[in-house]
Amino acid sequence: MEKTIEQIYVDALKQLKTASDPESIKSLSIHYIGRKGIVTQFLRNISKLPQKERPQAGKRANEVKKLLDQKFKEALRELKTTTSETTDQIDVSLPGRIVLQGTLHPITQITRQVCDIFTRLGFDIAEGPEVETDYYNFEALNIPKNHPARDMQDTFYVSENIVLRTQTSPMQIRVMEKHTPPVRIIAPGKVYRCDSDLTHTPMFHQVEGLLVDENISFGNLKGILTTFVHRIFDDQTSLRFRPSFFPFTEPSAEVDILCVMCRGRGCRVCSQTGWLEVLGAGMVHPKVFENVCYDTTRYTGFAFGMGIERIAMLKYGIDDIRKYFENDLRFLRQF
Ligand code: DAH
Repeated sequence: MEKTIEQIYVDALKQLKTASDPESIKSLSIHYIGRKGIVTQFLRNISKLPQKERPQAGKRANEVKKLLDQKFKEALRELKTTTSETTDQIDVSLPGRIVLQGTLHPITQITRQVCDIFTRLGFDIAEGPEVETDYYNFEALNIPKNHPARDMQDTFYVSENIVLRTQTSPMQIRVMEKHTPPVRIIAPGKVYRCDSDLTHTPMFHQVEGLLVDENISFGNLKGILTTFVHRIFDDQTSLRFRPSFFPFTEPSAEVDILCVMCRGRGCRVCSQTGWLEVLGAGMVHPKVFENVCYDTTRYTGFAFGMGIERIAMLKYGIDDIRKYFENDLRFLRQF
């Protein structure tokens, strides 16, 4: 016998190292451990060895056969995984995956624009609960039980003293209870009223504003709201302050802007008046200050509140508020 089993083993491993494709590994396997392979032949010829070497050589040859079988199989497996990985990476002919890109909801976009304008004017953003107590939603805002102003807001009652907030105005109270003047906040959020038609939905969004300090006058309110209207619409949008009533402000006003559709000539959108109502405002009522223990001889302030959907409808020329909540992608994709 020319070669010992150890030499055969070493040679086989050496050759395996240089084999780089499945075919050459398979032929190596046949060459060494196939039916007529070198190791198989070696085992057949054991009987030709001197008697005392036979058991040891037979045992080792069987081991080598097993080991080589394992190594060949391993090498084949490895080759398979690395080649499939690389083909995955370089197959540039596969069609790309379509990435669907969404957009922010128009109401979110307008809310962010409103917040942006007011934060640049030095206002902080305050947020609070949508499930509110009767006290914060009405009582502390100078709307006592049986006050006719409660009828203006078709309230969803959770229980006798708990409501879904009908306005963001309760945030005025929550903020003033926690902070001493100067206070300068806006409070965006959802509000709820039992009402539904072309211009009303049971849930909609408001932004409340509140500024309290020494020497604050109606002139400051006019200045801030004029700046706001010019920034959210455009510089050409004139506005007017019309006397109105809210229980938590005195004096109170409603703010109209020149109709964005007809620029004052009169059309269907502005009911031929040339003006569109966009928000309510006024000087904070002394009763409200008393409820949060503010010194009414030292501080004055103004408050305002607006509906986000209404601003968005005017900005984008939309005539049905319900479109915002139907989730029709053909509508939403336009923003
Ligand atoms: N809360 C009022 C509403 O929902 C809007 C409002 C009017 C808010 C006057 C105010 C205000 O802060 O001063 O109709």
